[in-house]
Amino acid sequence: MFNMTALVGATGAVGTLIRELLERRNFPTKDIKFLASKNSAGKTLDFAGRKITVEETTPEAFDGVDLVISSTPDDIAAWIVPEAVKRGCVVVDESATFRMRDDVPLVIPEVNPDDIMKHHGIIASPNCSTTQMVQALQPLHAAGKILRVNVCTYQATSGAGVGGTRDLIGGTKADLAGETYQNEVFAHKIAFNVIPQIGSQKHRDTFPGYTSEEVKMILETHKMLGDNTIRISPTCVRVPVSNCHSEVIMVETEKKITVAEAIRLWEATPGLVVMDDLDKGVYPMPSLCSGKDETFIGRIREDASCANGLVFWCVSDNLRKGAATNAVQIAELLAEKCATEKVDCATSKLIEMIERKDGKIWEAIAKLGEKECGLEKDVAVAFTKVRDDQTLFNTKLDDYKAYEAQGDQYRWDLANCRFVHSEKICPGPTHVPVVRGPVFEELRVRCGEGDCGRRDGRGDGAVGDIFEITKIIRALQGAGYTVTPPPVATASPA
Ligand SMILES: NC(=O)c1ccc[n+]([C@@H]2O[C@H](COP(=O)([O-])OP(=O)(O)OC[C@H]3O[C@@H](n4cnc5c(N)ncnc54)[C@H](OP(=O)(O)O)[C@@H]3O)[C@@H](O)[C@H]2O)c1
Repeated sequence: MFNMTALVGATGAVGTLIRELLERRNFPTKDIKFLASKNSAGKTLDFAGRKITVEETTPEAFDGVDLVISSTPDDIAAWIVPEAVKRGCVVVDESATFRMRDDVPLVIPEVNPDDIMKHHGIIASPNCSTTQMVQALQPLHAAGKILRVNVCTYQATSGAGVGGTRDLIGGTKADLAGETYQNEVFAHKIAFNVIPQIGSQKHRDTFPGYTSEEVKMILETHKMLGDNTIRISPTCVRVPVSNCHSEVIMVETEKKITVAEAIRLWEATPGLVVMDDLDKGVYPMPSLCSGKDETFIGRIREDASCANGLVFWCVSDNLRKGAATNAVQIAELLAEKCATEKVDCATSKLIEMIERKDGKIWEAIAKLGEKECGLEKDVAVAFTKVRDDQTLFNTKLDDYKAYEAQGDQYRWDLANCRFVHSEKICPGPTHVPVVRGPVFEELRVRCGEGDCGRRDGRGDGAVGDIFEITKIIRALQGAGYTVTPPPVATASPA
């Protein structure tokens, strides 16, 4: 759970979709701020039933922010992102500025999720035409080792931001009316035309004749697949399509992969959808894939010119999986991984305190549970109590101390991950331990539906807590502590 998230570039083509996704996916943040250039400062944007005023992006705007999702042009990212990192933020960045830096993981959550925690403050989201290609290539590479890729792209105008869309619409209207149109972003008219250049020749020394967009497709693919021996030759073309990039991808593998096997591999990969029936005219197209979060594959065939070759057509919404969806998925994964890390950190502090035989251990554990595991106070207090004999109890400290004094105890049944309860207040003469089923049911009964749980509101709160606490218990055991449930109390006669 993040305390404050800042979205930089909230007014842009990608930023607009990020806003929509954060709201729709109930992103785990307590608060959010929207930043953009000073031209947009003061505008209001709707978010989750609130009106949020856009602020100008200044270094100070990152004070008190823990997560930044940044979606600005490269030159802006170059100064904004380091300012945010300096102030302790973790930045998920859409721009190309930091993607190839060794200390910056470049992540597609379905492809290389484990790279995320290698970050030093910046996590980069890849180039849009690269993302969809790498999603399709990764399962093939794992199965048959890709030797060579030849790719031609048909890239939508929205890939050049809101100005690109304006150029397509304005230019088309002008062309139809027989008028001239002054382009905002493209070097040539895009209406009724295709432009075989995306980016500049800034890598002319190392990749003569290739554009910067094409070089991104080479280098970023190598980085994410962890293999720079793959020979890749891209040609990137801008087409008069408003949204969704399409690609013809030709792959040569060391081990032959048949069409049937490729389909099986892609169908088993999250985030990919196969749409392939040429007889029925079924294949992905921008008009079908716009607004979708997945990447689509069709026209799959063996390459008639190459023994171990496959050719296919791949379409993805460049603003979604190519940008906004991927960045939000990275941020969600980060939230999940941070929660786990916090539990690990809480566990090591716990172990330290046990070693010191700290008398205030109960309160400390409650605090750790609350502050570091993100548990609600009641639940945190209720969860754990460690005694000097290294026995871990589960008791409702505040509310149930009185019951406990009468012989009532709650404990973890570690073997079965259940919450065992002996109830003084339960009727019957013997007060035998009562096992009421899985712990989360018990907690729901105890705390009331929705009363307890993680503050980030993800999943079923009680279940989330149980797994976190179970993790603490397991880590204690892993660290050599004997964590045994206490003997179940025998209730004193009423
Ligand atoms: N479009 C795509 O398909 C796509 C795909 C993958 C990655 N990306 C990358 O995502 C980033 C954003 O692309 P986009 O297509 O959303 O561009 P865009 O529509 O042009 O939006 C740019 C955003 O950056 C903001 N900005 C400009 N100057 C700024 C400044 N000085 N300080 C703070 N914010 C500033 C703009 O704010 P104002 O509205 O106030 O000017 C706007 O919100 C780029 O790095 C791009 O390469 C784009």
